[in-house]
Amino acid sequence: MTGEPRGHAEEVVVTACPDGPLLVRGPARLVDREGNEIERHRATVALCRCGGTAIPPWCDGTHKVNGYRSGDDDGRSTAREAGTGA
Ligand code: FES
Repeated sequence: MTGEPRGHAEEVVVTACPDGPLLVRGPARLVDREGNEIERHRATVALCRCGGTAIPPWCDGTHKVNGYRSGDDDGRSTAREAGTGA
């Protein structure tokens, strides 16, 4: 076991990478703020959450140089506080 989350072929798994992007695995449909489909070409995509990418919504690695820190809990307490998490 590698520690990587594994899912079924139809399951969507979103992984918050420490100090980095959200990895989206599985058949998630991505849309922009107007609801327009964002085309994806990979089974796993990385969504920027540091705000520094030059190619939004995708992570371009800028988080490694802009000092982005996700915090110790990787957003779990925020999800709980908002009532959107487990
Ligand atoms: S999270 Fe990677 S560039 Fe923002």
